[in-house]
Amino acid sequence: MGNDIRYFELNTGAKIPSIGLGTWKSEPGFVGDAVIAAVKAGCRHIDCAQLYANEKEVGLALKKLFSDGIVKREDLWITSKLWCSDHAPEDVPEALNRTLQDLQLDYIDLYLIHWPVSMKKGSVGFNPENLTIPDIQSTWRAMEALYDSGKAHAIGVSNFSSKKLGDLLEVACVPPAVNQVECHPVLQQKKLHAFCNAKGVHLSGYSPLGSPGKTGLKCNVLMHPVITMVAEKLGKTPAQVALRWGLQMGHSLLPKSTNEKRIKENFDIYEWSIPDDLFAKFAEIEQVRLTTGTFFVHETYGAYRTVEELWDGEI
Ligand code: A2P
Repeated sequence: MGNDIRYFELNTGAKIPSIGLGTWKSEPGFVGDAVIAAVKAGCRHIDCAQLYANEKEVGLALKKLFSDGIVKREDLWITSKLWCSDHAPEDVPEALNRTLQDLQLDYIDLYLIHWPVSMKKGSVGFNPENLTIPDIQSTWRAMEALYDSGKAHAIGVSNFSSKKLGDLLEVACVPPAVNQVECHPVLQQKKLHAFCNAKGVHLSGYSPLGSPGKTGLKCNVLMHPVITMVAEKLGKTPAQVALRWGLQMGHSLLPKSTNEKRIKENFDIYEWSIPDDLFAKFAEIEQVRLTTGTFFVHETYGAYRTVEELWDGEI
């Protein structure tokens, strides 16, 4: 594999930039500057979602980047996601319109169903009583209409297991281009990745650093002995090693940062690689899911009684 993995080609023929800036948990007042710093550092891909409640600030930053002539719209890749309370087919185009308005764009490069979970229309927060039974096929038909209209240049899903993705592929007229899931050396998603490869669906990895700032996590990816050992041997940071591993596995990656120094560090992962002998060590890492989705699991409400049902037993 070459060192310079700048893009991955999707089943639409479009090229998704291999690293994007994640904006989940990017605080208002910081996310706009982060977008500007990332684009100035060479990033051409921003990963957004209506749930993150910061798309308006991202939109202001994009407008500034375009008006200052730093980058052209057609040279940027913008992803956003449909929230669970907008799954009803008639709500899907309205949700994208809101996102486009907030981002000040007239099309999105990739629009994803955020979770295989649905909630009552208008519900806010994660109250289990708001969980309903998802009808992914109907939601997908509405996503396909957005693709046909040209407002979404590609459509896909997020947090789908192989089983849920397979079920969707059986009924889809437009196959999903991407499945965006948690992916890092401690959750390598080997089964799902193989399934996605076989079906021509690109796997995009969120939390590629293992979300080190999040409290209550079972494991700190950047402090894992394999990662720190490889980082030391290569003279790179643990974050760069975790990201480079993802590139060499063939995932696109969405590291979140609002710190300019770390943003630059996270985009400096080209022109070098992890050699085969060190790369092989990643296979020994014990696997743990960090974002388990327990807030979507309930004994009475919604579609999933257990975390195993949500992920169909996949690790
Ligand atoms: P910050 O925004 O202050 O840089 P993930 O993308 O896996 O969810 O990880 C995001 C978390 O990792 C954030 O807390 C972010 O903090 C931190 N982070 C981002 N880049 C780096 C880096 N290069 N080294 C260490 N921590 C990082």
